[in-house]
Amino acid sequence: MSDSIKKKLKLKVSAISEGTVIDHIPSENLFNVISILELDKVTEMITFGANLDSGKLGSKAIIKISKHFFENDDINRIALIAPHAKLNIIRDYEVVEKKVVEVPDNVVGIVKCFNPKCITNNEAITTKFAVISKEPITLKCQYCEKITSEEQMVIK
Ligand code: CTP
Ligand code: ZN
Repeated sequence: MSDSIKKKLKLKVSAISEGTVIDHIPSENLFNVISILELDKVTEMITFGANLDSGKLGSKAIIKISKHFFENDDINRIALIAPHAKLNIIRDYEVVEKKVVEVPDNVVGIVKCFNPKCITNNEAITTKFAVISKEPITLKCQYCEKITSEEQMVIK
């Protein structure tokens, strides 16, 4: 195979000139990441790929958001569903910075409380949790004080 074909095959989604590349997203959570980061409100170019081959994850997704840079607090909101995501900050076609996501101390929205009787499961109230363990993730509901463990986590 020629070098030119190899190069074309390697890049599944075109390189961008300026912006953020979020790599190593579990494919099954791609659309949750799009929703949590409110990418529907971004007006610059967004490209993405899903079900791409990845050594580590088996299958990964990638999102490229042109001319857009995130605050750490915003990006850490995806830590629960894309714990191994890597952010690449692109300036003038070069990766100038790589960031990993960190599980935040508090989680607002995103996850459902595991307690069916919790007020957040019965009224239109946004969930709020304190993160009492980051590995494995353990959330304590600020309304009913019940624990939601990593295996019990359901995305809203
Ligand atoms: N990328 C891009 N546009 C650029 C530069 C890079 O879309 N102008 C993308 C690459 O396609 C890749 C990611 O940004 O998905 C990270 O680029 P790079 O660090 O060059 O790749 P890797 O070394 O493979 O990254 P890592 O091993 O950290 O995942
Ligand atoms: Zn609760």
